[in-house]
Amino acid sequence: MKLIICDDYNGVSKAAADIVAKEVNTNPECVLGLATGSTPVGMYEILADMNKAGKVDFKKVKSFNLDEYYPLSAENDQSYHYFMNENFFSKINIDKNNTHILNGMCENAEKECEQFEQLIEETGGIDLQILGIGQNGHIGFNEPNDNLCSLTHLTDLTENTIDANSRFFKSIDDVPKQALTMGIGTILKARKIIIMACGANKHDAVRALLSGLISTDMPASMLNVHTDVTLICDKEAYSNDCIGIDLGGTEIKFGVLSSDKKLVYKDSIPTDNSSEEKIVSGIANKCKEIMKKYTVSGIGVGTPGIIRNGRVTASNLPFKDTNLKEKLETAVGLPVRVSNDANCAALGEVICGAGQHIENMVMISLGTGVGGGIIAGNKIYEGTGCAGEFGHIVIEIGGRQCPCGQLGCLEQYASASALVDAAKSAAETNTDSILNKLYTEKRTMDGRIFFDAVERGCSVAKAVLDEYINYLAIGIKNIYNILDPELIVLSGGITNSDKLLLDPLKRVLGDNIKVTISKLKSDAGTIGAALLV
Ligand code: GLP
Repeated sequence: MKLIICDDYNGVSKAAADIVAKEVNTNPECVLGLATGSTPVGMYEILADMNKAGKVDFKKVKSFNLDEYYPLSAENDQSYHYFMNENFFSKINIDKNNTHILNGMCENAEKECEQFEQLIEETGGIDLQILGIGQNGHIGFNEPNDNLCSLTHLTDLTENTIDANSRFFKSIDDVPKQALTMGIGTILKARKIIIMACGANKHDAVRALLSGLISTDMPASMLNVHTDVTLICDKEAYSNDCIGIDLGGTEIKFGVLSSDKKLVYKDSIPTDNSSEEKIVSGIANKCKEIMKKYTVSGIGVGTPGIIRNGRVTASNLPFKDTNLKEKLETAVGLPVRVSNDANCAALGEVICGAGQHIENMVMISLGTGVGGGIIAGNKIYEGTGCAGEFGHIVIEIGGRQCPCGQLGCLEQYASASALVDAAKSAAETNTDSILNKLYTEKRTMDGRIFFDAVERGCSVAKAVLDEYINYLAIGIKNIYNILDPELIVLSGGITNSDKLLLDPLKRVLGDNIKVTISKLKSDAGTIGAALLV
């Protein structure tokens, strides 16, 4: 589905009028499918002006209207006959004999519908169908219903539609309870379709339409099977708020990213690692809670592990070929995209963080292990599912044992854990060092204690850091030589001390390799996951 988002109603009317005018100018004898409702009024006005100005000629155009109330006479000022005449036909040079609207006073509705359908066929079919959309997702008068009729038919109107359309009638009791309408199949036969939506009350309908999920509860969603549909909507009707989820072994972080790419909501829940079901239901419940406050159009999930076609296998989560995408879509009812957590962080960083204005970037996360994400042309490069596993580049033949089975993997030397392990053993061996003093005082070792020792001028800590930086630099040079990215972004708690880590690292790497520190820090994962949608 093509999407045109306009600032306001006038923009929508103009964009739609341009498409109609182009169709008529290309094919002066074309068949138009026309719609009523308040939305197309502005488009009809613009087309009438264009017609007056000689920019479009309706002389040979034929038209079929989508629907008409039943029973209601053409003279009634709420009939669609009256509407079309008032808003369009009387203002343009169309031949009235070429315009067709279902007869709301017909004696035999079935016959009327059959003849209408046949006439469309005989005229050669509809070239361009114009549609509005009801708040409940109806198009024409095809209401949400398990048994959607595909051809022109008589239908009962839902309470929602009667209520929404009562604004045009003196009282709600005057709104007809039935209507004649083209069916979904009739509409889908049109060669080209434009659908217009304006205002916040169309927000949910537009969201459902764009979700790509097809359901009879949302008749407009059937348009997703058509190959030439353009949705034209204003900013109020369009919402692209998305939920981003950063799934970790100890906590699951949630964020809502607004259409203007701002993180407007942040929260987290502990990870219940006891089963796959517990994780899925925990995520689904939190998403449903968020959806009460925000109108979201989709969910992106960043998870550790290998992901192929939405199926996840992760060693530190109870996921073994788990179809996370499908399970969450079923539980929440929104489209879900899944990618590796490091890939998501990289995407977040390139679109909203340190990599803005560039297109090719690599992100390396220095945590318990070493993770990575490759961005090529502003998109995640996934390979067949696990590209960017930089932690398992071998940097020392016959080196330290890695749980992955290899010896000498980068993550055994360049992860934050490796740095802390090296600091601990240096503190234990060098009993008269500042590092040892701090280690003994605090009875533990972590990145903060280690960098504190470096800052206090501890030569033992400095030697550990130099060795660490050399190993990290080897890994970065290998990655750079393969991928030649515009920028390498480092993330993880230990990168917070950028004076102590980044500056010396840059000196070892030289000028060609551009390296920087993550801007989004711990939000990169949720922001990037939301951007998957
Ligand atoms: C009516 C029409 C539809 C139209 C809908 C929305 O129900 N049958 O064709 O799309 O109203 O109308 P509006 O544009 O006034 O919101």
